[in-house]
Amino acid sequence: MFPNRHGQPYRKFRTELLRSLLTSKLTLDRFNLMNAKDLLGLIHPAIAIAFVFPLVGIVVNMAWQTRQRRLHPSQNKKIPPVVGREHLKYGRWLTGAVVGITLLALAYSIFIKTPFFENPPFQIGFVIAMFVLTIAALVLLYRTRPNQPLWRAVFATLTSTGLVVLGSQEGVFRRTNEWYVSHYYFGIVVSILMVVSLTIVPEIYKHKRWRVTHIILNTLAVLLFVGQAMTGARDLLEIPLSWQAPYLYQCDWQNQVCPEPQSSRPSETEATATFSPRTGSTPTLRSTPVL
Ligand code: HEM
Ligand code: HEM
Repeated sequence: MFPNRHGQPYRKFRTELLRSLLTSKLTLDRFNLMNAKDLLGLIHPAIAIAFVFPLVGIVVNMAWQTRQRRLHPSQNKKIPPVVGREHLKYGRWLTGAVVGITLLALAYSIFIKTPFFENPPFQIGFVIAMFVLTIAALVLLYRTRPNQPLWRAVFATLTSTGLVVLGSQEGVFRRTNEWYVSHYYFGIVVSILMVVSLTIVPEIYKHKRWRVTHIILNTLAVLLFVGQAMTGARDLLEIPLSWQAPYLYQCDWQNQVCPEPQSSRPSETEATATFSPRTGSTPTLRSTPVL
């Protein structure tokens, strides 16, 4: 029930309301600690979480139903016959979404993280042309017909090559020395797996061998999607905000310590740096209570 206007509960309600408004003001202030560069860095993770991962869930759910319906048609009468076509429909969306966010992440790393436009004009032109060609190859792959296997293979190869060439540009953090936990390598491989799925659709319908290949490759893709969620969250933790970065660069990464602050020390906490494997780049700051 709404609190009585003149009684004790109403005053409590008013105080609570005021407190929540103040808290939301503080939240907005915290948001202001991010500049445009930091905010742009959130676009790719936000799209992955809000759009791509739900799509993965839909596609996997329908994949399971498609298989159940095909293997045990009599026991699975509740599964609609269109489930296979729906899986394909959302699968096509998924390919575009995964390649799309990979390109977005690469564009951020190449154009925003480095002073890209200070490069020689040829290099600038080459990288921009690679983005355009990769997107064009994907669009053309979508437009190929089932009776054009050669063109499908050509456009799939061009799309995948475009992703790899863009991924090898300066600014992209590849973590090659730890490739088995690298967000970059997982991302490129899963994107190529989605491109392969789109390419072999007519073959999946025609041959059991391709159907089995599709299942094996995409089981790996599901594991890589889980890996993307984990490594992406880790990377977000490791990257400091722009205004924090210069201080973190002064830290000794090998020994996991940062220089003592010169002026006033934060009252209750002391900053220590945890060593981060992104060598030569950004360690993470951790606040530990001063004893
Ligand atoms: C996480 C991603 C995916 C997984 C785990 C997955 C898994 C599966 C599975 C288990 C089946 C049923 C196989 C059977 O009948 O035994 C299937 C069928 C199929 N998948 Fe996928 N798939 C994925 C993504 C895609 C994508 C991206 C496409 C295309 C763009 C695609 C196209 C197809 C087609 C055309 C079929 C046959 C449907 C039918 O029989 O009507 N899949 N998939
Ligand atoms: C299907 C899902 C995803 C794919 C395919 C993907 C792909 C990629 C790729 C290819 C890069 C470029 C590597 C680089 O420049 O460092 C990247 C960067 C990044 N991704 Fe993702 N990602 C996905 C999901 C996520 C999620 C869920 C998060 C966070 C919760 C995330 C956070 C990041 C961050 C922070 C970077 C920048 C890393 C850096 O600057 O070193 N990603 N992603």
